[in-house]
Parts: sequence; C-alpha cells; structure tokens
Amino acid sequence: MSRLLLPSSLIVIAGSLVALWVGQPQAAERLAPVGDATKKAPFEPLGVSSCASMACHHGNGERGSVGSEYSTWVAVDPHAKAYGSLYKPESIRMHEIMAKDDKVLLETGAHGNPLCLQCHGMGKAAPEAQHADGVGCERCHGNAEKWKATHYQNGFDRTKDGFVDLRMLPVRVETCVKCHVGDASGDVDHDLIAAGHPRLRFEYAAYYANYPKHWAEVTEGEKKNKSKDDEVCGWLLGQIVSARCAAELLAHRATNKPDSWPEFAEFDCAACHHGLAPPNFRNERDLELAKKAKPGEKIPLGRMPYGTWYNPLLPTLAGATKIDREKFDASRERLDKLMRKNVPSKAMVSTEAKTFAEELRVWEKAVADRSFDPTETRALIKVLAGRKDTVDSGWDGGTQVYLGLAALHHGLMDLDQKQKPFREHLLNMRKTLGDAYPKGAKARPRYDVPSDYHPAPLTTSLKKILEHLESKNATRD
Ligand code: HEC
Ligand code: HEC
Ligand code: HEC
Ligand code: HEC
Repeated sequence: MSRLLLPSSLIVIAGSLVALWVGQPQAAERLAPVGDATKKAPFEPLGVSSCASMACHHGNGERGSVGSEYSTWVAVDPHAKAYGSLYKPESIRMHEIMAKDDKVLLETGAHGNPLCLQCHGMGKAAPEAQHADGVGCERCHGNAEKWKATHYQNGFDRTKDGFVDLRMLPVRVETCVKCHVGDASGDVDHDLIAAGHPRLRFEYAAYYANYPKHWAEVTEGEKKNKSKDDEVCGWLLGQIVSARCAAELLAHRATNKPDSWPEFAEFDCAACHHGLAPPNFRNERDLELAKKAKPGEKIPLGRMPYGTWYNPLLPTLAGATKIDREKFDASRERLDKLMRKNVPSKAMVSTEAKTFAEELRVWEKAVADRSFDPTETRALIKVLAGRKDTVDSGWDGGTQVYLGLAALHHGLMDLDQKQKPFREHLLNMRKTLGDAYPKGAKARPRYDVPSDYHPAPLTTSLKKILEHLESKNATRD
C-alpha cells in the first residue's frame, strides 16, 4: 500500500507536496539489545573510494539494488552532498563568524573546519583527502580497516572489528543521533545557529522514512525470521534514544561550556523568536491556564520552555510501556524544573541530566527487543491522539504528536491490512504545521521559526482520529 512520507525537515514540512507518496513498504528488521558497536573503535577509515569498485558496491544497477549501494548513495543520498554544503555562502559566513579570533582556523574555510567535518565529512580524525566524499559509507557502517577484506564472506561476524551492524535497530538509531542530535564532539549550539546553521531537530521515524535507501528490501524468506513491527518500535526507540542523546549533550553543555549558559538551543526557539503583538497562541494558552488554575496557584508565565522537541511525549510513552514509572518521572521532573528556572544551576543540571540519561538507557533496553501487535499499536495511537496538552504547548509538541501518529499509522497499516486508514486527518495536521511558517518569496523554512502557530485545527484533527478509532468502521469488512 502507498505510504505517507513523513516530513523530516522544515523544508519538507513547509514545502509543497513533493514526494508525498512513496510506494515501498518499510523493510522489517530484526531487533536486538543495545550494543556497543557504535562506540568509537580504534580502526582507521579507508574512504568511500575503497567501497566504490564496480565489482563491489558500484554496480550501476537499479536504485537501491544489491551491489549498487555506492551508485545509489552518490546519486541521491543527502549525505553524499554534506561536504559540498560547506562551500555554500551560509557556510562561509558561519565559519567566518565562528572562527573570527582564530587566524589559523579562519584560513581553512568551513570545508577545513574540524567542527563542520565532524558531521559533514569523515570525522575530525580522518585523513584530509577523505572528506570531499562527505558522509561516506564508514561514518555509518564503521571504519573498514579491519573488515574490508572479510565482510562479504559467508559467516562474517557482524559484531567485530569495528563493523557497525545497522540491521540492528538500536545500533542504527544510535548511529544517526551522533550527527543529527549532536554530542560533545559536534555540537550545533545557539552560537552556531545564530551564525546561520539550521536548527537540528531529529525524529528518527521521519528521517528514516525520508532517507533514500541504498539497500534492498528483505526477502519474504528473511521476513519470517524478523520482527514485523519495526515501524512502531523504531518510532518509540527513536524517541527514547534521541532524548537520551539530547540529555547527554545537555550534561556536556552544562559541564564544559560555562560561557554560553544557559544554552538557548535547549529551549523552544519560538518562545524567544516571535512577534510580540497579541493575539497569539500564547495569550490564548495562558488564558486557558488561568481559567483552570486553582486560587493562589501560579501559572508559569514567561518561563523558559525546556525540552520542547525531544521530551514532550516521554511522560505519555512511559505510561504505555513497562518501566519504573515513578523513578523515571521523578528524574524527568527534577531536570525539567531546574531547566525552567531563568538561570539554571550548571552543576545541578549536569548531575540531573546524567541521571536522566541513565533512566532513558534503562528504558531503551526494555523496549529494544519487544514488539507491538495491532491492538497495542491502536492503544498507542489513542494515547497520542489524546495529547491536546502537548499540541497546546507549541509547534514542537504539535509536530511531535503529528510525527508520532504518522509513524504509528504506517505501523498499523503494515501490521493489519484490514485497518481503515486515517490519512486525511494526518494531511490536515501536516498542513496546519506547515502554515505556521512565514510565507512569501523570502521564506526560508529550514531556518525560520514557525511563529504563526494555531493549535485549534490540530485539536480538531485529533478528535477526528479518536472518533475514527472508536467507530465501528475502523476496520475494513
Ligand atoms: C556523520 C554524520 C551523520 C550521520 C551518522 C547521519 N547523518 Fe543524516 N545528515 C548528516 C548531514 C550533515 C546532513 C545534511 C547534508 C547537507 O545537506 O549538507 C544529513 C542529512 C540527512 C537527511 C536529509 C535531511 C533533509 O532535511 O533533507 C536525512 C533524511 C538523514 N540525514 C537521515 C539520516 C539517517 C536515517 C541516519 C542514520 C541511519 C543518518 N542520517 C546518519 C549527517 C549525518
Ligand atoms: C552535530 C553535527 C553537525 C555539525 C557540528 C555541523 N553540522 Fe551542518 N548540518 C548537520 C545536519 C544533521 C544537517 C541537516 C539538518 C536537517 O536537515 O535536519 C546540517 C545542515 C547544514 C547546512 C544546510 C544544508 C543545506 O542543504 O542547505 C549547512 C549549510 C551546514 N549544515 C553547514 C555547517 C557548517 C559550516 C558547520 C561548521 C561550522 C556545520 N554545518 C556543523 C550537522 C552538523
Ligand atoms: C547515513 C548512514 C549510511 C551511509 C552513509 C551509508 N549507509 Fe549503507 N546502510 C545504512 C543503513 C541504515 C542500512 C540498512 C540496514 C538494514 O536495515 O538492513 C544500510 C545498508 C547497507 C547495505 C545492506 C547490507 C547490510 O549491511 O544491511 C549495504 C551493502 C550498504 N549499506 C553499503 C553502503 C555503502 C557501500 C555505502 C557508501 C557508498 C553506504 N552503505 C553508506 C546506512 C548508511
Ligand atoms: C532565551 C531566548 C532564546 C531562545 C530560546 C532562542 N534564542 Fe535565538 N537568539 C536569542 C537572542 C537574544 C539572540 C540575539 C539577537 C540579536 O542579536 O539580534 C538570538 C539570535 C538568534 C539568531 C540570529 C539572529 C536572527 O534573529 O536571525 C538565530 C538564527 C536564532 N537566534 C535562532 C534560534 C533558534 C533556531 C532557536 C531554537 C533552537 C533559538 N534561537 C532559541 C534568544 C533566544
């Protein structure tokens, strides 16, 4: 069946209906416990050219076919263009702003800046000559020094010698977040954003769906041995791993970057970057809050809205899966409370962010090898469709609810062909979210802040989705 392509970036969300539908069903993957395969291995990268021989991965066959991985990557993969982006005018400007006091660094240009190369090239430590290929095979599959000569042999051990087994869902998610959320070795902070870098806003299910695949679908024979529910588990695991990676990054920022504290990139961009003329959705939201507040209860006016992208669904999801809910909630709430102070304590945030990351790790292990059946998937959809409060909290929350529903919708359709799709409501949500961006010839959706946000139409769509699920006709025949 046809698939609703998730918007992975501002461009896709706000843009036209380009590539709205794709025909391929998602490959189902085997699930595995979280491994150590992505830890920095003491192996050297060999560069893309060593994978690109005609006999190996440059078959020039059909896009995504076996033996044509390089041909596919070089033709359509955004990662093959990542180094080229460092020559764009915005990169040149960014580099000049960031490197202004460092004459030596200034000379290198953005394409020689180790910070940029950490994510747009083969990594800080790689030999200079390799970077021009962009984010090459080994950035995801592991440095090939020790496995190049053996990885095509029967019985090759995919857990050794620095090979990163991307078939394993947890390993795969972990691989993407290094660059797409960032870490101590590559941090897209507010300084870099203010200098011109797009905000990083990763959601695994959407990015994975949008990634032009250079691998073949699993065969029917293979499918039998693999878990069928990859999409649901992938989305859930993506939420948890991204939040954990963001918490680790926060701990790093609080510990090692005292000069840019509080780090503005931790907060909702639109909270600071928006027009001040009423009415806007904040006035409406605060009015609602004021109406509901008990006498004497303070409503949180003008507080820093922390974690609006990576954390808004966690409380809900924690309720829907089996973990020590109380311990998890307590840790999350302590960090949230600290971060919403005007000047959060660096030391306390550092400690609490590390604790929270550990809690998320425990949760990750608990979901990595489980699966979801259609009943459980529907239950998750209901929980998400009930998140009016998250939608009301701002564009970030609204978008996460939408992306979650879209991923679960795909998952449900894959699991049970009898379910009736509720795609039209998702498309309406998507349009509302896109409409929040400034329009006109000068619009730059990848960089702009969606400041014209209106949650009401989203709430209507959520209601319709709930009605759809409750209705007798939710399944075909
Ligand atoms: C080594 C760093 C790195 C890793 C690892 C990585 N990416 Fe990327 N990715 C990038 C960079 C940098 C870009 C932007 C490329 C450009 O346009 O310059 C990008 C772009 C993308 C895009 C296009 C986004 C858009 O707005 O069009 C998708 C989709 C994507 N990555 C998915 C993934 C997925 C899925 C994974 C994990 C399997 C992954 N990436 C792993 C660095 C990385
Ligand atoms: C933590 C990893 C990371 C670092 C460090 C980083 N980038 Fe990026 N960059 C990304 C990712 C990921 C994207 C894609 C964002 C998306 O679409 O979601 C991106 C996108 C971009 C884009 C937009 C690309 C396009 O297609 O228009 C430019 C330009 C860019 N980066 C330049 C730079 C420069 C210059 C530096 C160094 C000063 C840098 N980046 C450092 C990860 C990084
Ligand atoms: C941005 C990350 C990324 C980059 C860069 C990348 N791959 Fe992949 N590759 C993946 C993912 C994810 C899979 C899917 C694994 C699965 O689901 O089975 C994959 C699958 C494959 C497969 C199928 C076999 C397997 O292990 O599952 C081959 C072969 C492959 N890639 C080769 C390459 C080659 C050659 C390059 C460079 C030209 C490359 N890849 C670049 C992420 C990447
Ligand atoms: C706590 C308030 C606050 C938050 C949150 C915040 N910023 Fe900023 N931002 C500022 C201030 C203050 C400046 C400096 C304004 C100036 O010098 O004109 C700025 C400057 C910028 C600039 C460069 C100047 C401009 O307006 O183009 C960009 C781009 C930017 N921020 C984007 C973001 C993004 C994206 C986020 C969310 C990841 C974000 N900001 C979060 C306060 C904030």
